[in-house]
Amino acid sequence: MEKIIDGEKLNIPNHVAIIMDGNGRWAKKRLMPRNFGHKAGAKAIEKVCEDAHELGIKYLTVYAFSTENWKRSVEEVSGIMNILRDYLKTCIERATKNNMRIRIIGDRTALDADIVEKMDELERVTSVCDGLNFTIAINYGGRDELRRSFKKLLEDVNAGKVDKDITEETISCYLDTAGIPDPDLLIRTSGELRLSNYLIWQLAYAEFYFTDCLWPDFDMDELKKAVKYYNGRDRRYGGVK
Ligand code: IPE
Ligand code: IPE
Ligand code: MG
Repeated sequence: MEKIIDGEKLNIPNHVAIIMDGNGRWAKKRLMPRNFGHKAGAKAIEKVCEDAHELGIKYLTVYAFSTENWKRSVEEVSGIMNILRDYLKTCIERATKNNMRIRIIGDRTALDADIVEKMDELERVTSVCDGLNFTIAINYGGRDELRRSFKKLLEDVNAGKVDKDITEETISCYLDTAGIPDPDLLIRTSGELRLSNYLIWQLAYAEFYFTDCLWPDFDMDELKKAVKYYNGRDRRYGGVK
């Protein structure tokens, strides 16, 4: 989709994926505990959803907690889970008001029952919304997602439900992101240049944008910068132009 942004005609990516990194460093700079940064990070998500929708982005997928983040201190992990609880509570109201469809990806089995209940409710209630498709990755790891998908696929093949001549589409259908188009643009904040196990299958042909901006400071200006960078890329998909 093309849109005029600040007088410039821009091609808007259909799906933007974000690795929201740098909350800890943001807090440290302010001599505050890490969870202060996570709280500010959660606040930033709300605004970025509105900004993404305003720009015409249809799908936004954010990395909130990885399968590797359990390695952090008990204090930090429980702090993040409590921020998540609060976020999910207010999210229902915001999502229905803004017509946002929420999906949660990742392995729910390790999460507290009340959190899982809220996630299910949020997905159910917003399933009729057709504004921004907002997906949150919680206890998500790309390799773990593939492992879970292959396990399920194997069961279905053995049960004769699926043709054993597996296609790429079959695999995509078994991922947590089934039904969601692959990201066009990946943004990672805080200056790190790695994937950290995020959407490893889905990002195969995405454009990558890295910024030193710490996640709690990420705003509309930063999002526009990323979209402008995306517009300067030549997507060849292995072909020749
Ligand atoms: C990202 O910020 C949020 C999560 C991983 C939960 P970090 O907590 O990784 O922040 P830094 O990288 O330590 O600054
Ligand atoms: C990736 O950030 C995970 C999330 C943003 C949720 P990390 O801070 O956990 O990644 P590493 O440890 O720097 O690779
Ligand atoms: Mg980090």
